[in-house]
Amino acid sequence: MLTVVILAAGKGTRMKSETPKVLFNVAGLPMIDYSIDLSLGLNPNKIIVVTGNCAEQVEKHITSKYGDKVCFARQKEQKGTADAVKSTFDYISDEGKTLILCGDMPLMKQETLKKFMDNVTTDISFIGVKTDQPTGYGRIVRSTTGSVIKIVEEKDANEHEKRIQEVNTGVYLCNSKVLKEKVLSIDNNNAQNEYYLTDIVRDGSSVFIADNHIEFIGVNDRLQLSNVAKLIWKERAEFYLKEGVSIIDPDNCYIGKDVTIGQDSIIYPNVHIENGTTIGNKVTIMNGVRIINSVIGNNVIIKDNSLIDNAVIGDKSQIGPMAHLRPKSNLVGDNKVGNFVELKNTTMGEGSKASHLTYLGDATLGIDVNIGCGTITCNYDGYNKHQTVIGNNVFVGSDTQFIAPVTIGDDVLIAAGSTITKDVPAKALGIARVPQKNLEYQGVELMKSHKARKNTKK
Ligand code: UD1
Ligand code: MG
Repeated sequence: MLTVVILAAGKGTRMKSETPKVLFNVAGLPMIDYSIDLSLGLNPNKIIVVTGNCAEQVEKHITSKYGDKVCFARQKEQKGTADAVKSTFDYISDEGKTLILCGDMPLMKQETLKKFMDNVTTDISFIGVKTDQPTGYGRIVRSTTGSVIKIVEEKDANEHEKRIQEVNTGVYLCNSKVLKEKVLSIDNNNAQNEYYLTDIVRDGSSVFIADNHIEFIGVNDRLQLSNVAKLIWKERAEFYLKEGVSIIDPDNCYIGKDVTIGQDSIIYPNVHIENGTTIGNKVTIMNGVRIINSVIGNNVIIKDNSLIDNAVIGDKSQIGPMAHLRPKSNLVGDNKVGNFVELKNTTMGEGSKASHLTYLGDATLGIDVNIGCGTITCNYDGYNKHQTVIGNNVFVGSDTQFIAPVTIGDDVLIAAGSTITKDVPAKALGIARVPQKNLEYQGVELMKSHKARKNTKK
């Protein structure tokens, strides 16, 4: 029987923020999610997150994402890590083992944890690492024979102890019954007047020294947060490089969790691909593009500084530069959405194009429609949204407004500069503009009088 306890009640004082530390975004996910995902991978009988600081906010996030897979224990006052563990005791039986993790270590790997758990032979065991930067961590004090005597916190350590380069990671595996007994006997007689969980470690405890200390960097301030996030971004970029994706600058590439990218795709610098996005093969994504939870087909080109949000882009389409695809934009394939074009809740049939300066909202376009520069679907009347439906093979001249709801049949030509307020039947020419008048000599006369007025002003 395995219970995982994740400590997440701390004030996170060093973050200097109103946001609880464990909800800070780390490489696209709230920090606490890393510990929960890691725990779920161990198939425990129970996961208990200890909440306290901003408890409601933290619990709300976790419940919305993980439902009843995670339960909570509230720590009323943040009196230290041992006190936090104590608040879980009502939910932990004496049988089996308890794994304790901190909610502020997003780099930890499952393989390392499993290796540790497989090696534990004592009632209380924890993971330690060797580091030449031990500042801030609890130091592992050993006897002359090498056995663990205790952990001493930075603030309680003497000069000799501060030089110790073996530190506590804050990950423990304990016999649940022994854990309870030990925690209940801990006092707060130390430099911070806190109940330290590290005090469960005494003679007879064992330490597992993990190979890679980087995995256990705790996020206590914003510098550590940014360093940890950088490592995660880099790690993800390296994963895709090995999968056959070209990444021009792996130090400047931001790929979220659970993203799929097909072979021979190319990612330029400063591209953000957020959680849940799927990208096909041979897709080129140029500088400064951000893609959120979208599906991109094969052989697509997305040019610089475009934003794609909850959209579907079919094979062989070309997007941008500076295009904005808002939720429910659906490009069936072979489409072109050019510069300064915004789409929302709009489907474009195969081969349809909107190359410049256009807004298409709540619209359905058939096959091979050409939308001229400056076209606008006026979908909102101040109260409700209305649909614009355009058939196949329609040519829309530049600077057209469709006053929705309106339906345009197949093979229609809309004259440039039209304000279309009525349906246009198939094969018709829709034209809605004031006929042009040419007034002889009035152009030159008007210019002369303008000039004269300008000169008298001087
Ligand atoms: C802790 C360890 C230290 C170890 C380091 C590894 C103790 C006393 N020290 O120090 O030996 O080297 O982690 O990163 O345990 N928390 C609560 N309730 C509290 C206090 C803290 O839930 O009352 C939670 C925090 O939210 C955090 C975790 O416990 O997730 C660790 O607390 P933190 O203040 O970060 O401890 P460290 O100073 O890092
Ligand atoms: Mg910490």
